[in-house]
Amino acid sequence: MRETQDLKVQVAPLSDDLAFLDIVTEWDVESAYQHWKTGILVPETFQAASFPRVVAVCNQKGGVGKTTTAFELAMALIAHGLRVRIVDADDQEASVSVWLRYLLEAHPEDRRLNLRDLFFDAKVKLAEVSYPTPYEGLTLVPSYPDLADVNAKHPTGTDTCLQHHLRKADDVDVTIIDCGPSLGAMTVSALIAADDVIIPVQGASGLDVRGAGALNRTIATVQERMNPDLRVAAAVLTDFERSKIARKIGGSLARAYPGAVILPARTNVKIGEAQLAKEPLRLFAPGSTTVLDYDKGARILFGLGAAA
Ligand SMILES: Nc1ncnc2c1ncn2[C@@H]1O[C@H](COP(=O)(O)OP(=O)(O)OP(=O)(O)O)[C@@H](O)[C@H]1O
Ligand SMILES: [Mg+2]
Repeated sequence: MRETQDLKVQVAPLSDDLAFLDIVTEWDVESAYQHWKTGILVPETFQAASFPRVVAVCNQKGGVGKTTTAFELAMALIAHGLRVRIVDADDQEASVSVWLRYLLEAHPEDRRLNLRDLFFDAKVKLAEVSYPTPYEGLTLVPSYPDLADVNAKHPTGTDTCLQHHLRKADDVDVTIIDCGPSLGAMTVSALIAADDVIIPVQGASGLDVRGAGALNRTIATVQERMNPDLRVAAAVLTDFERSKIARKIGGSLARAYPGAVILPARTNVKIGEAQLAKEPLRLFAPGSTTVLDYDKGARILFGLGAAA
């Protein structure tokens, strides 16, 4: 790994007596709405992930909560003592690299090795593009906007680049790839490298569910040709509020991904504020419902002992 930072923030686990959502084994779309209680759907067939694990957070629709999901799950996992690497596979300027203050600290003149170099230079090793973050246990593979070259130029080995580097890495327990809003070569490379896909969907947007067809076809193609063990581990209903449409969308996701956890991530204006302040929500608004939801989701997905 590259140079170390002295100041490390220790992220603590949450207390078990907080108001977490209950676990349900079926998503209830039948009972009268006023009796419906929001829960986290964990199908009876669901198996928690083993370690080390590579997880791709994908949806080609923009602004559905991919980066929020990737970052907050990572924060929850490090709070439970796991070592996590976030790979910033999004070429947009407002990416997780910015949220994690990486790009602010890097002066343009001392541009550092980054994810793009892994794709364009076969000699570059994962350790050379992995940087410590201010948070104990969290490593970042950052990117700059010219990561877009991967989709545009498709350098030799693009499809298998992430798989090659991530599958054999044992310096972390979980790698989380934050994909951009596209189904281009970078996202396909992430899906080929991944054990699990997590799909964030806007909790109140019927359009997101309709748009899921293209993503599902891409996942099916990758499963068919390159990564038969890839599974959809979870769909996250982001910006979630208890409503008829949110209940319906949860039901559609449960049908579309019968083995997956359906995790509501309750709405919170503090997320935008946390992003502006370049702080993880978990530290910016520790008691917020969204933090509890991601914490419980992380415990379920990675078998860390479910909170009551
Ligand atoms: N649970 C939530 N409650 C309220 N707002 C949320 C929630 N999750 C995400 N948001 C907001 O939604 C917006 C988009 O979130 P985010 O950047 O995580 O999406 P994204 O899918 O990564 O976007 P992009 O496709 O551009 O990469 C942000 O402004 C964020 O603050
Ligand atoms: Mg994003």
